[in-house]
Amino acid sequence: MTTLSQGPTAIEELGDWQRAVRDQFPIITGHPDLAYLDSAATAQKPQAVLDAVQTYLTTANANAGRGSYPWANRTTALVEQTRDRIRRFLDDPAPQRSAVHFTSGATEGLRTIARDWLPGLLTHGDEIVVPAADHQANIEPWQEAQQQLARQGVHVRVRPMPYQQASGDYDHTALARLAGPRTRLVAATHVHHVYGGNMNIHRIREAVGPDAVICLDAAQSVGHLPVSVADLDVDFGVFSGHKAMALPGTGAVWARQARGPAFTPGGWSGTPNTVGIVSLAAALDWLDGVGTDRIERWTVALASRLTDGLRRLDSYEVLGCQTSLAVDSPVQRRQGIVTFRHRDIGSGDLGFILFSHGFMVRCDHHCQGAGGEDGESVRVSLHVYNTVAEIDRLLAVLATLG
Ligand code: ALA
Repeated sequence: MTTLSQGPTAIEELGDWQRAVRDQFPIITGHPDLAYLDSAATAQKPQAVLDAVQTYLTTANANAGRGSYPWANRTTALVEQTRDRIRRFLDDPAPQRSAVHFTSGATEGLRTIARDWLPGLLTHGDEIVVPAADHQANIEPWQEAQQQLARQGVHVRVRPMPYQQASGDYDHTALARLAGPRTRLVAATHVHHVYGGNMNIHRIREAVGPDAVICLDAAQSVGHLPVSVADLDVDFGVFSGHKAMALPGTGAVWARQARGPAFTPGGWSGTPNTVGIVSLAAALDWLDGVGTDRIERWTVALASRLTDGLRRLDSYEVLGCQTSLAVDSPVQRRQGIVTFRHRDIGSGDLGFILFSHGFMVRCDHHCQGAGGEDGESVRVSLHVYNTVAEIDRLLAVLATLG
């Protein structure tokens, strides 16, 4: 439970800091009439990341893991150093044992685990738990792995993760009832990409026992809040670089290597995305420098202000957790994602209206799995560059729509 203040106090305490941080995003300062509210889809990049890319491409660009001249050696070293940077960023409890594998993003990372590693874990009659109301990227790879195994005569059961209907949080009590000795893996999501809830991952280990593998989709948490794989006691951490302020086409799988077979995605994978990996190291440096704890406080405070404002407007329904935004809630805390619907205006139309006022939001099903039957909605997803003024202006525009 945090002891740091959020809500109005956080806004007052962090105001000067936030203005200085916002000024480091050229695309934001260059478009003062626009409000970018789609950071769950991809985050904007600070100048430090842009500079790191420019510096690398103009001083050391070469291939990695081949060649012995200085630029090639420098590139190889940058790639290897970034693996260690990721370990430190994620608070790896045993960096000498873990593996870090670069991917194009969280989707490829989850698919790689499901396709290449999971079959070595499972035998006939085993079970895996899959979060059917989360992002499709954390559902389909597990189902495909089940089908692949079935073709080989190994039948495993996919159990849907139980949810609490009112909040969209996982139902950890029901999970404890569902889990048994054949439960070998639980796929979970750190921050829900539609409901915005922090899914209380620390309660999963207690529910499923010491032996089950927990695979964490951290796509919406890395870069938004401190993520400690040690505290959460997970076995895999998977994230996308572009949502953590690096370039698109980057991401990583962190593998603890303590439960199940070793994670060794094999085969010749060609030239790595060297410039993306350089941008990822720069982004993690930048995030640690400004402080993911402060980013979390800021975005939680803005999300709380937006949620409270929407609840005062009769025409809007907020999806997911309605009430427990309190600082001291041990149960559920909304991070910087608020998703809602208007009673009479379709979400696509609402998106057009909002863009006519300069707001960029996502309006669709948000790639949610079939277990979440919410239909289309408007998602506002925040980052450190968003402001109180943007939230208040958004609420004012929404209020004019009845
Ligand atoms: N997964 C990203 C989102 O939720 C693209 O928008």
